[in-house]
Amino acid sequence: MSVGENRMPQESVQKERPARQISVVLRGPKAEAVPDAQPAAAAERKPEPFAEMMQEFDRMIGLTEVKDLLYEIYAMLAVRRYRSEAGLAIQPQVYHMVFKGNPGTGKTTVARMVARLFQEMGVLTKGHLIEAERADLVGEYIGHTALKTRELIKRAMGGVLFIDEAYSLARGGEKDFGKEAIDALVKAMEDHKNQFILILAGYPDEMEEFLGTNPGLPSRFPVIIDFPDYSVDQLIQIAGLMLKEREYVLTPQAEWKLRQQIQREKDTCLAAFSNGRFIRNLLEKALRNQAVRLLRQGTGTPSKQELMALRPEDLPQTPAPQEKLLFSL
Ligand SMILES: Nc1ncnc2c1ncn2[C@@H]1O[C@H](COP(=O)(O)OP(=O)(O)O)[C@@H](O)[C@H]1O
Ligand SMILES: [Mg+2]
Repeated sequence: MSVGENRMPQESVQKERPARQISVVLRGPKAEAVPDAQPAAAAERKPEPFAEMMQEFDRMIGLTEVKDLLYEIYAMLAVRRYRSEAGLAIQPQVYHMVFKGNPGTGKTTVARMVARLFQEMGVLTKGHLIEAERADLVGEYIGHTALKTRELIKRAMGGVLFIDEAYSLARGGEKDFGKEAIDALVKAMEDHKNQFILILAGYPDEMEEFLGTNPGLPSRFPVIIDFPDYSVDQLIQIAGLMLKEREYVLTPQAEWKLRQQIQREKDTCLAAFSNGRFIRNLLEKALRNQAVRLLRQGTGTPSKQELMALRPEDLPQTPAPQEKLLFSL
């Protein structure tokens, strides 16, 4: 995780904080946490928004640094509220973010949670997420881009504007309309401070380059989060989670096969490995294969166990390394 100009003092916070302090802080009686708080104000406050969200977030595999950072942001927001209630000064703060990571590393999922967290904490009024990419911002003639970008920002007001593969805005050079989109975004960030949060996302190297070649940008994004690739074990856990939600299970043999498939995909992937998305796509196909297998077996209504079990033969074939080479030629 890198540290932006206005970045919060993460290291010091992290050292002091035991992993589950969240519940201690949030579940403690409000009166103890804020001795000076007005009882009415405390009663009005939604209880433990982060603890609630954290439960959902905790179900996500890995992402320790992301979870820690979100906790810090939550703490900052909570303290700002307490300070404001106590009549103390609060510093203006920007929360625009950059999410760097390969596809399927959880960026969109986390952005959605960020939107909700900020809404629960009263920073954003709506807490929705507008996902956009280059084509949604960049127009075809002079003036079109500013119009499109403004329109998008209008829709994102009160929520999060999440721009995927944001580096592509800077791809076409000086004459490209992408530059116009960046300028319009920067202007909107100034005109509508804290009315929306802008999250730029993309592959790590491209995002580094993008921020490097736009010197005005890094300081506007105080929160920069790295989303690392998942390990094979984490991907198996992600698969388990996705299947649990859908009330399916992998047989031990199927899990073994999936592990091999993931390892092979990770080893041979020519472009960036697509992490959670690879798992999701593979499992969706597996569920269809299982359904076809169950109908074809022609033994009447399948048992509950049969309906739940994914067997090795249900997992789709992932292309072998040599096939991939052929595809890429
Ligand atoms: N840590 C995680 N735990 C559980 N599921 C995950 C995790 N990270 C990603 N996923 C799942 O992987 C898929 C792709 O995630 P997504 O947020 O769209 O990634 P990105 O936006 O980085 O491409 C989604 O179905 C998401 O729920
Ligand atoms: Mg995404």
